[in-house]
Amino acid sequence: MESVAASVLIRGAHVVDSAHDGVLDVLIQSGVITAVATGLSADGATVDAHGLTCLPALCDLHAHFRDPGLTNKEDLESGSRAAVRGGYTAVNLMANTKPVISTHAQVRDVLARARRIGLVDVHQCVSITADMDGTTVNHLEGLGKHVRIISEDGREVMNARVMLQAMHAAASLGLTVMCHCEDMNLSPVDDRLAEDIMTQRNIELARTAGCRLHVAHVSTRGAMQAIIAAKERGQPVTCEVTPHHLTLTETTPYRVNPPLRTQADVDFLRDSIRLGWVDAISTDHAPHTREDKTAGAPGMVGLETAFGVCNTTLVQPGHITLARLTELMSRNPARIMGLNKGCVAPGYDGDLVLVDLHRRWIVDATKFVSKGHNTPFDGMTLTGRVIRTIKGGRTVYADAPEQQEERQT
Ligand code: DOR
Repeated sequence: MESVAASVLIRGAHVVDSAHDGVLDVLIQSGVITAVATGLSADGATVDAHGLTCLPALCDLHAHFRDPGLTNKEDLESGSRAAVRGGYTAVNLMANTKPVISTHAQVRDVLARARRIGLVDVHQCVSITADMDGTTVNHLEGLGKHVRIISEDGREVMNARVMLQAMHAAASLGLTVMCHCEDMNLSPVDDRLAEDIMTQRNIELARTAGCRLHVAHVSTRGAMQAIIAAKERGQPVTCEVTPHHLTLTETTPYRVNPPLRTQADVDFLRDSIRLGWVDAISTDHAPHTREDKTAGAPGMVGLETAFGVCNTTLVQPGHITLARLTELMSRNPARIMGLNKGCVAPGYDGDLVLVDLHRRWIVDATKFVSKGHNTPFDGMTLTGRVIRTIKGGRTVYADAPEQQEERQT
């Protein structure tokens, strides 16, 4: 059951977020950060964090926990454990479960069970069309205040008239539409054109309807250019890219949707991050059984590797600063989800992650706590490891010392 520590002082960490870069103490009282300064003292518990870096805990805008119905792949508990092991304390769950999440009652059930597990804050998306049938949108009325984002992720709402209706409903209800941009008729013959065209369509429909749009897993230069053009004219569009689309290319034979792209696409996405066009890095954590993966199921798990992959490929080579990474992996996704997280500052939730920025470790998928072990990053050496995840002042994950030894290179 979820609880918060009365008072905890994180002492001597190098605190990095969009406003801090220095050795500081962080005081969390009743689950909320109350002071960030040097020389703080407190009556309660203390965590000695000298030598470690303290960041706002990560928030993932895009994860599949497969619960209900597909819990042989993942469930709320295993997904939550994978999240905190990766430094996350908040996740936005996709609706392509069995049954599809389309009602207020289903959302309430997921949120209640996630709260009982108490490791991460969960936002549960509702499907854009009821049961992802591609045509019905009247379920969007009366969803309740807990639903902020609707998404058909895993597939596209192919009928533009239906998507427009859903977007009009979203605009009047204050919902964000998170879209999986893929023309599913075109993708078997030209999967990048399929993404480019649907990104343009969804931006135009959202502009007409006046709704907020969040574009999931952007992977092509063309899609990114369409988003940049929309942002330049002031349209309320946000977007995310995944660690895998920022690091791997089509030369890695791994099935994921959207597919791994060319080096030119990877370079363009990285440049777009550097120039500030990308709002978030999301995992698209997509666990599958070995059998389903062998049979061609698209996707990979990502929660337990995302920080290491991004630190290794974006921060270490100097593409972006660590402070910018915290914006992409914590502050901006928290803002899009409407959470009071993402900054190490008084008044924010006491959700922090302590990382050893310099520790090198080898990804070993057999050690994942996720039920999914499907990852192309298996065996890769990464730099930067999550040592402790703190939620509301309470430690919800601590790296086991024997594992640290085992996996040091
Ligand atoms: O590769 C993917 N897997 N892309 C998606 O959009 C859906 C996801 C899944 O649900 O497995």
